[in-house]
Amino acid sequence: MKKLGKTRRILLYAGPFPALAFFKIWAASGAEAGSGSGSLAVVAFFMLVFCAIVIVVAKRWDKPSYFDWTIGGYFALIWLSLLVWPDSAGRVLSRYSVTGIYGCLFVAAFFPPVFGMEPFTFHYAKKYAPEAVWNNPVFLRINRIMTYTWAGIFAFSALLSLYPSVITRAVVPIGIILCVGLPFNLRFPDFYLKRLGLPSLKAQKETAPEENAAERTLSQPEHLPESAWQAISSMPDVFRPGAARGLEAVIGFDVSGSENFKAYLHIQGGTCALEDRSSGEPDLMIHTPSEVWLAIARKELSGQQAYMSGAYKADGNLGLLIKMKDLFAGEALSSKVENSGAKEAMPSTTAKSDDAGNTFVTQTQERKENTMKVLALNSSARSKGESKTDLMLNHLVNGMREAGADVEIVNLREKNINNCVGCFKCMTKTPGKCVLKDDMTLDLFPKWLESDLVIYATPLFHHTVNATMKTFIERTWPICEPFLLEEEGRWFHPLRRKHPGVVVLSVCGFPEMSAFGGLTHYVNFLYKEHGKGVLWAEIYRPGAEFMARKKDRQKDILDATTQAGRELVLDHRVSAETLARIEQPLTNDVSDFAKIANCMWKTCIAEGITLTKFADEVMIPRPDSMEAFMAIFPFGLKAFATNGTKAILQFNLSGDVQGTCHFQIENGTVNTFQGPAENPDLTIDTPFDVWMDIMTGKADGQQMFMAQKYKVQGDLSLLMRMGQTLGNQASS
Ligand SMILES: Cc1cc2nc3c(=O)[nH]c(=O)nc-3n(C[C@H](O)[C@H](O)[C@H](O)COP(=O)(O)O)c2cc1C
Repeated sequence: MKKLGKTRRILLYAGPFPALAFFKIWAASGAEAGSGSGSLAVVAFFMLVFCAIVIVVAKRWDKPSYFDWTIGGYFALIWLSLLVWPDSAGRVLSRYSVTGIYGCLFVAAFFPPVFGMEPFTFHYAKKYAPEAVWNNPVFLRINRIMTYTWAGIFAFSALLSLYPSVITRAVVPIGIILCVGLPFNLRFPDFYLKRLGLPSLKAQKETAPEENAAERTLSQPEHLPESAWQAISSMPDVFRPGAARGLEAVIGFDVSGSENFKAYLHIQGGTCALEDRSSGEPDLMIHTPSEVWLAIARKELSGQQAYMSGAYKADGNLGLLIKMKDLFAGEALSSKVENSGAKEAMPSTTAKSDDAGNTFVTQTQERKENTMKVLALNSSARSKGESKTDLMLNHLVNGMREAGADVEIVNLREKNINNCVGCFKCMTKTPGKCVLKDDMTLDLFPKWLESDLVIYATPLFHHTVNATMKTFIERTWPICEPFLLEEEGRWFHPLRRKHPGVVVLSVCGFPEMSAFGGLTHYVNFLYKEHGKGVLWAEIYRPGAEFMARKKDRQKDILDATTQAGRELVLDHRVSAETLARIEQPLTNDVSDFAKIANCMWKTCIAEGITLTKFADEVMIPRPDSMEAFMAIFPFGLKAFATNGTKAILQFNLSGDVQGTCHFQIENGTVNTFQGPAENPDLTIDTPFDVWMDIMTGKADGQQMFMAQKYKVQGDLSLLMRMGQTLGNQASS
């Protein structure tokens, strides 16, 4: 844009408007005087010539505005219509010339931005705003708002002018333009800038020449950065404390592509330090492919244009994005690399200023080893001891901590997290931020965003995550942008920033892995297929309530879960072998599992006790059939078997449940068979109920034997030893 003198600027502003006013007055007086359409056509022609001159002059001095073109077009239209249809065009003009004028203004204001062109206010704003701000997003936003406000005023005036009265055609529209439009024009830019904490346009203009000088000196590319990391890590070196007076802010970089890292510039008390994390959500977060930032830093690409074209994204305080130009020695979107070799180790560098405002580096530390930050979310409603989710999660976390991860466990049952209310404000009014004020917004969501990995540890409820976890997952919605994108045939919402890795850990009551079918479909759709690809692992433990009854298997499962934790930190995945150990069946026959579980529930119901009490007191489920007895009794014999006993026990059952079965104890295992054994070491003839009472601890085995409630044949010492291992031991 050329620098213009005041007179020329006024003439350009006025442009074709005098012609418009003159024509309006002529048309009105001509209509009253009854002058014909011929003279109106002549006047329209001269006005057209006037507009053409305005356009030519504007082109020579600067650039014609949209109004120059639309008003010129308006006169061309009038002139041609009067030539072709003198009578009807004359009639229409005498009635609606004012409406036509407002319509012209509306067209010039409304349509250019709709078709991706600069808003009309740009033309004027550029004449008083410094060039440095023309392309910045706030300047664009201000202009867009002003343009549409003006378009609204013009449209309203056009509608009003359809009614033939001087009040509706002149007084009210001109009143709105003068009393609303012009003051709005004068005050709105500074009002908006102030709201964002930015200097007024006047202040920006005053500092602009200095800025440009600084930019000119600093832009000499003595040492161009070789990587985005070099460019960002050296920003503290060119930090200008003088420009950051009173500023406390964190500017984050989420760099993706061939370089993949996050870095945060912490600005506080006149210093700027580069860290690998931010305690809360950064005030400004820049998401950029590494190539884009490198090109900007090397001045091969304009930072502002790159932003405008969507080459990188920024969310949070956009005012900071603009301020970066001042904060970093005029190198808002680029940086001067002083010592490229020293930057390779990702140092934390602090820049301070002396009294004269010169920047010097006071401290360079090696950044501590990249520690994986893990947020482990447990949604079980049950507390420690009875919760199987808790048990599994604790082992997983132990493994992760052993491998060096920084893990925080959060029990969601202790948090106040409201349901998403579906207001979509996080997409529109407060992009990326939920309007609800609870533990999610204030504490957990920022932590979640900052994590490298989140663990969703949930009991399986109705074949998916439980409601507490679902609520949490729904509230992570602000990470998405509202737009729909398509990639490889799948539609998804783009993310505002990097989604943490996800591990799903779940336990359930049913014995088979197929119980997790619904959950695995859900989490794969959400975290793998649906554009995110962040699902690191799924760890499922079926039959979890039953685990404690199989102490040896439980130990192996929990050891494997700890191993999974180590693998996640080291390899970002869990190996197939480890998963197989975690998922191992608790029993070789799943139907046995069901028999035991059903007897357990029947026992709880019959005794009127809770599952917790049943588990705490290590009670034995009371069998109600021969099959259930054959499934449950081996648990009581387990300890007996592990002491090296080799024997065959046969039961001849009578009473409510009748039949014969036998148990073969050998090499520490117990095998069960229906029917009689060939050579049993001990045979017990007993009514079913009597033995069930003994087995569940309701009756004393010795007393019942003395009372001849059951009979034995064979090795009586076996009966004595078995008696010692039944009862409490039976449960192990
Ligand atoms: C409301 C409810 C729904 C459940 N739904 C299922 C289910 O669909 N499939 C399953 O195998 N277990 C289901 N269970 C059993 C739990 O997954 C199981 O008890 C788990 O161990 C509970 O986890 P926690 O011990 O950490 O609380 C359900 C339990 C409840 C209370």
